[in-house]
Amino acid sequence: MTTLADTWGINEAQFWLRGVRPEKPVEHDEAAGMWNVYGYPEILQALSDHATFSSATQRLVPETGDRFSEGNLVQMDPPEHHKLRKLVSHAFTPKVVADLEPRIAELTHELLDAIPGDRTELVADLAYPLPVIVIAELLGVPSSDRGLFKKWVDAMFDSSDQFSLKEQTKEQEEYVAKAMDQVQQLTDYLVEHAQERRRQPREDLLSKLVLAEVDGVRLTDAEVANFGMVLLIAGHITTTMLLGNTVLCLDAHPDQFAKLRADRSLVPSAIEESLRFFSPFAAVSRATSHATELGGQVIPADQLVLLWVAAGNRDPRQFTDPDVFDITREPNSQVAFGRGIHFCLGAPLARLEGRVALNILLERFPNLRTDPADAPEFLPSPAMTGVKRLPLLL
Ligand code: HEM
Repeated sequence: MTTLADTWGINEAQFWLRGVRPEKPVEHDEAAGMWNVYGYPEILQALSDHATFSSATQRLVPETGDRFSEGNLVQMDPPEHHKLRKLVSHAFTPKVVADLEPRIAELTHELLDAIPGDRTELVADLAYPLPVIVIAELLGVPSSDRGLFKKWVDAMFDSSDQFSLKEQTKEQEEYVAKAMDQVQQLTDYLVEHAQERRRQPREDLLSKLVLAEVDGVRLTDAEVANFGMVLLIAGHITTTMLLGNTVLCLDAHPDQFAKLRADRSLVPSAIEESLRFFSPFAAVSRATSHATELGGQVIPADQLVLLWVAAGNRDPRQFTDPDVFDITREPNSQVAFGRGIHFCLGAPLARLEGRVALNILLERFPNLRTDPADAPEFLPSPAMTGVKRLPLLL
């Protein structure tokens, strides 16, 4: 059977998008020297046991070093994680996010107004700039610098190779070095802004972060910058993918698209289904602190474990007809935002942006559809599922 993943030439490594089931829910990838977890219950087990499955994976990936781990929430374990998470959660209260709704709607209209004629490349025109401007405004860095963020972040996701702990090819080494160099430029940029806010606080998230205290201790410039970097990276490329993927999934399933147009109260559940069906962030990583058993396999200590949430979201043990895109799916316990103590901090914002943008697209363009003469293009990275180009007819 030809699946959408075949039609669109998505990275072969993403077998779950092709309706293929993994042989085992947990497997050792001998060649890459790490473990893959594809099963839903096994992923939940790992995500709920941070004592065994540590988030501090950088210690196993010497190439990336620990330059960027300070203040990097994603790489932290309790108790440090708990402290920082508590602190930054203040910036992402439901109220702070809900208050952004009018601004998100305004920006969406402005971006759509700027499209000349009756076609758009949705990523460049809306799905990329919208989340970047929102996160830049929240942080308080000039959104006019978004060309710079794009350059830095693009370099990080530009490889189609599966990451491996063994036998890095020369190209892979060069790629990692180049990506690290871009990360450095991004953190240098944020350090400058953090220092500026220390001198002159404003009403933005960077100022809140430099002024905030955890147990009487303030964050260092490096911690603020690294956290800001996590927000900029986690906060925009994933939401870009969510917007593009949702439009694409709807376009590929005209019955579902018609149902949504007829009943807009289904927009939130359509977004949840898009997150399940085409999970933007395909895998999260963990490092085993000690030997453990998962899915009938014994994983030794100090192993890198990839939890393929995107594959778990197609596990028939959890989802009826997992390869069917159903915007009325209920319940839909998708794990595209992870689970447990590291559950995506930006999930409410991503959902809000998705809901607002999709509603406006539906309102303004009753005939929105893909362009048969100009196919969508996907990001090459196997760890990402998302369009990098989505030409549409309005
Ligand atoms: C964590 C996915 C949007 C900020 C995560 C994790 C996933 C994820 C899977 C868990 C990582 C782990 O367990 O190791 C997504 C997806 C998004 C999205 C699919 C959009 C569709 C956002 C946005 C922001 C954000 C908009 C910020 C504004 C974060 C942060 C964490 C995180 C700070 C780390 C939380 C922690 O370690 O405690 N995200 N994310 N994400 N996300 Fe998101």
